[in-house]
Amino acid sequence: QQHRRLISRQRFITDFSQCLFEFVVQLLPTTEEMAVKEDVRKLLERLIRTIEPDSRLLSFGSSANGFSLKNSDMDLCCLIDSGERLNAADLVTMVGDLLERETKFHVKPLPHARIPIVKLTLDPSPALPFGIACDIGFENRLALENTRLLMCYASIDPARVRTMVLFLKVWSKRRKINSPYKGTLSSYGYVLLVIYFLVHVKNPPILPNLQQMPPLRPISEEESHLNGFNIWFFDDIELLRQRWKSSNTDTVAELLIEFFKFYSRDFAYNTGVASIRAGLLKKDAKGWLSEDYGTGRERNRLCIEDPFETDFNVARCVTKDGLYTIRGEFMRASRILQARPDRAILALAQLCE
Ligand code: GTP
Ligand code: MG
Repeated sequence: QQHRRLISRQRFITDFSQCLFEFVVQLLPTTEEMAVKEDVRKLLERLIRTIEPDSRLLSFGSSANGFSLKNSDMDLCCLIDSGERLNAADLVTMVGDLLERETKFHVKPLPHARIPIVKLTLDPSPALPFGIACDIGFENRLALENTRLLMCYASIDPARVRTMVLFLKVWSKRRKINSPYKGTLSSYGYVLLVIYFLVHVKNPPILPNLQQMPPLRPISEEESHLNGFNIWFFDDIELLRQRWKSSNTDTVAELLIEFFKFYSRDFAYNTGVASIRAGLLKKDAKGWLSEDYGTGRERNRLCIEDPFETDFNVARCVTKDGLYTIRGEFMRASRILQARPDRAILALAQLCE
């Protein structure tokens, strides 16, 4: 009896891994979509250069880190290489005016946001049935670097890392727990939770800690630091692919099941901070205790340290209710996957209902 149960569980795991791969593949953006987005980037760059000739417009976020889904928004960052330049708020206003005049985008400049951006949207059309949503920020070099860090992690073990991350992104969107504005977690936050799990929870680890590997040559303070933050990490992917081979052979299905189990019951939500740089840290050591700053607003229910901006809690928007909902969803997923489902495809459909 027990033997038979074990075999059927084994079969479920194999099928579920296969289902996950197939599910994720059909959610990837098409080459056409990527080409259209690249054309849009070039067009916007050309226009912005009429104001700032020495500027470059670069992609970051999911379109540049290997975790992009169909119709995901575009995150663009404008870098200006010349010495003197306008401040971000003024640039946002000027670029906003320009794009309003010169393009068909709906334009919404937000010059006074924490990170000033211009928001652009394009209505759906036959060629672009979902339209386009795009944010342009200025001089946000840390975001470019954290994008590159995630991209490196994705390319070390794409079959397991990308599949897990892409699945969790879809799952969190379908379960409606992917809106920082409504008290739940951003995609960026979920990606960090996955990497934390693969570097610091899994034993043996699936991924190395790129920020703690010894550099191949001495690195000066100037090279490694940006705005006072250490942004160095081991980024020689070719070398990593040759040298890093995890001895952990868990399948993507096993990893996902454990991921849900870990974040439903084992992670120390009340006292812990998930840091991909340094492992499990303590809230009190970082001064991130829940009832905070005397503002009455909660910020530190869930704590995820940004890999570079170490004084920044990526999950600061998660409220008490939001965290309750997120944990409830981790538990629900865990329950579905533990309940000896016999058809993997049905379990997957139920997960993302
Ligand atoms: P989708 O848009 O859902 O496809 O996911 P995404 O991978 O683009 O993630 P998201 O839109 O949440 O974030 C885009 C990028 O913005 C991330 O890769 C980060 O570089 C940056 N970012 C987002 N949120 C934060 C944050 O709270 N802190 C910092 N430093 N950067 C952030
Ligand atoms: Mg994005």
